[in-house]
Amino acid sequence: MSASREFEIILWGATGFTGSLVAKHLQSTYGYSLNWAMAGRNLQKLEAVRAELGNPNIPLLQADSHDQAAMETLAARTKVVCTTVGPYALYGTPLLEACAKQGTHYCDLTGEVQWMGHTIKHFQSTAEASGARIVHTCGFDSIPSDLGVFYAQSVMHERFGSYAQEVNARVGRFSGGASGGTIASMMVMMEQMSKDKSIQEELENPYSLNPQGEQSGPDGLDVNEAIFDEHFQQWTGPFFMAAVNARVVRRSNALANYPYGKTFRYDERQLTGADKKAQRKAKNIALGSKLTPSIMGLGWVRKLAGRFLPKPGEGPTPEEQLNGHFEMFFHAQSEDGNQSVKTRVSGDRDPGYGGTSRMLGEAAVCLARDDLSCGGGIWTPASAMGQALVDRLQANAGITFETL
Ligand SMILES: NC(=O)c1ccc[n+]([C@@H]2O[C@H](COP(=O)([O-])OP(=O)(O)OC[C@H]3O[C@@H](n4cnc5c(N)ncnc54)[C@H](OP(=O)(O)O)[C@@H]3O)[C@@H](O)[C@H]2O)c1
Repeated sequence: MSASREFEIILWGATGFTGSLVAKHLQSTYGYSLNWAMAGRNLQKLEAVRAELGNPNIPLLQADSHDQAAMETLAARTKVVCTTVGPYALYGTPLLEACAKQGTHYCDLTGEVQWMGHTIKHFQSTAEASGARIVHTCGFDSIPSDLGVFYAQSVMHERFGSYAQEVNARVGRFSGGASGGTIASMMVMMEQMSKDKSIQEELENPYSLNPQGEQSGPDGLDVNEAIFDEHFQQWTGPFFMAAVNARVVRRSNALANYPYGKTFRYDERQLTGADKKAQRKAKNIALGSKLTPSIMGLGWVRKLAGRFLPKPGEGPTPEEQLNGHFEMFFHAQSEDGNQSVKTRVSGDRDPGYGGTSRMLGEAAVCLARDDLSCGGGIWTPASAMGQALVDRLQANAGITFETL
């Protein structure tokens, strides 16, 4: 990449619900020391976001995500593109392709596994050739899971000189709501799955995001049942983002050339508590997760749900974000179970927006400024940024990584 790019970061989608939160984070954390621009399709809306930030010096760029030439021009002007324009399967490909071609680093918030499979297939070699570091899933999915495993494995290695052969992630307390953009992305994924059986087949492979020829291993599909977890002495149910997060964690291990071994196992579930009530809750979550795909696969249900759920641009209130929080626990253990550690990743805002916007902003700054060892390609947060991003999140994003 040319050293003389005009900007360090272009924030694409700054007018959206999450994009405007990322803009606030960049302005409040880096102030005038960051050379960045805000971009979107509507100049008036961009001006309103800039006025709210109180920094009239931020340049504004206008383009449409379907205009490939405009995406190329945008990508060529900056070191990093940070994008919140989703659903990514609908709007994301031209920009990602432009970044891959122009050698521009890129981070996003997609949790759309089918779209990530598509970008890996079509743009991995272009990004490798240009030097562009492309990193999906830089929000609540999947940074706490991916860096949580990275951190737990670092503790294991420091303590015992070897990595864990199995990590169980358990989601503890969390509170927050969903935005219209997230709901739209989930609806698109359900719709594409109901129309294209090959997408469903792809999602049935727990290693579907691994490189070609490396898409198998010891993990099966997520278990849709209530299970009592001996390590945590609590009931657990399926966690709704596990399908994305677990594939990202497995891709991280593969891209780093299997530091945790080819028989490394990972699962992610939600803790509900230890008593009878907790058992019932775990069973209800399990039932919900079994029924949701078939119910939401029906077009008329999606249409009806769309009338009541938040619309694009809407999401949790500032109070809900401020009062929100999340925590995830990790139990890592050696093959024989004799060596183990427990760690925790927690955040002091709601996971989906207050937390996610700061995670994405820090990922963008990390790609722009930190000395990273990976070359071009389609990476995961842990395989591209590892400790550099852990440090930034602890310093600037209200995220704590700790050993218990
Ligand atoms: N990974 C996570 O943990 C996580 C968390 C939160 C959100 N997300 C994802 O982030 C994405 C955004 O969510 P959100 O709630 O912020 O959505 P949103 O409020 O609907 O914002 C979408 C943004 O995309 C822009 N846009 C739409 N079509 C465009 C086009 N053709 N050209 C240029 N810009 C276009 C919109 O511009 P206008 O303002 O002009 O309409 C807006 O800025 C979703 O895919 C969501 O799933 C992920």
